Amino acid sequence: MSHADDHEGTRRDFLYYATAGVGAVATGAAVWPLINQMNPSADVQALSSIRVDVSGVETGTQITVKWLGKPVFIRRRTEADIASGREVDLGDLIDDNARNENIDPDADAADQNRTLDEAGEWLVMMGVCTHLGCVPIGDGAGDFDGWFCPCHGSHYDAAGRIRKGPAPENLPVPVAAFEDDTTIKLG
Ligand code: FES
Repeated sequence: MSHADDHEGTRRDFLYYATAGVGAVATGAAVWPLINQMNPSADVQALSSIRVDVSGVETGTQITVKWLGKPVFIRRRTEADIASGREVDLGDLIDDNARNENIDPDADAADQNRTLDEAGEWLVMMGVCTHLGCVPIGDGAGDFDGWFCPCHGSHYDAAGRIRKGPAPENLPVPVAAFEDDTTIKLG
């Protein structure tokens, strides 16, 4: 579906920018394959680590990385994103679990429990709708200024939490960590 599919092998090939990636997704509203395995298991993730150079990611933009055959969104959030994510009353959430593989599985879905860094600037999530596996549109889309899945109308907020529509869960945060200032390791 994108030029990332045409070449495999180097780290660079995994990375393509949202302008191209999201455009392709938006027009096709593609259903990602393997919808029953939306989030790779931890052991598979560990065996398949990749490193993503995020030095070129501007504030307020997102890149989409193909990892384990699935899209991963890496968004560098604005101050407004962070503020809007943090002001939400947890009682208003459809799914109150953080869905973050890097922390306690029982952690709540507070904005701080969703992001990779304490400041809340970096959000890394599987880009697969938790309803039936479409790829949501990003860049502030939907009623909650986050992501919108056009397949059946699921709206996710600036922290990737499901807020409206049929999707039952927040977009999952995979095993991820900063390896240095500009490199995120997935898996
Ligand atoms: S697959 Fe996203 S709303 Fe149905």
